[in-house]
Amino acid sequence: MSEAGTDAFEKLVSLLNYPMYVVTTHADGISAGCLVGFASQTSINPPRFLVGLSRRNHTYRVAVAATHLAVHLFDHEHIDTVELFGSQTGDKVDKFERCAWHPGPAQMPILEDAAAWFVGKIVDRFSLGDHTGHLLEPVDGSPPEELESWVSFGDVRELEPGHEA
Ligand SMILES: Cc1cc2nc3c(=O)[nH]c(=O)nc-3n(C[C@H](O)[C@H](O)[C@H](O)COP(=O)(O)O)c2cc1C
Repeated sequence: MSEAGTDAFEKLVSLLNYPMYVVTTHADGISAGCLVGFASQTSINPPRFLVGLSRRNHTYRVAVAATHLAVHLFDHEHIDTVELFGSQTGDKVDKFERCAWHPGPAQMPILEDAAAWFVGKIVDRFSLGDHTGHLLEPVDGSPPEELESWVSFGDVRELEPGHEA
């Protein structure tokens, strides 16, 4: 892409306000999780959801051996948990000592502060650039009782990521 194209693209995406998720996983006795903005439903039938994980993240390295991911949505009341997962890296701290969670479907760590969550089986993985796409087939979850507003990119855009992108 030309420099002007890159500039236009970067300006455009910086204005978007999409939902932010905390994505957790578990493999070989290790739990991991990070804040994710690169995520979207991609299909209705069959239901599919794509999660982009940076290959630099601790979460990505644990996800390599994992069969499932858990995708959590938060309301503003619990933005502290969202910030924990986006500003710290599992390479240095145990985020799961600092929040409430329990093992859920497929041993995925379920964060108790979440307003809603689902667990998805990883049915495909492919490169998206510097992130790897994890295509999920939802297998279980807890829908929101009511969710008027959720944590979105605009709420965390100033957060210093725990890992370089
Ligand atoms: C606004 C924002 C959006 C982010 N989006 C993603 C994302 O889509 N995918 C990803 O892998 N990391 C994303 N991150 C970065 C990770 O959440 C962050 O580096 C985290 O500390 C990594 O933790 P880990 O090393 O324990 O996996 C984002 C961070 C912020 C602040």
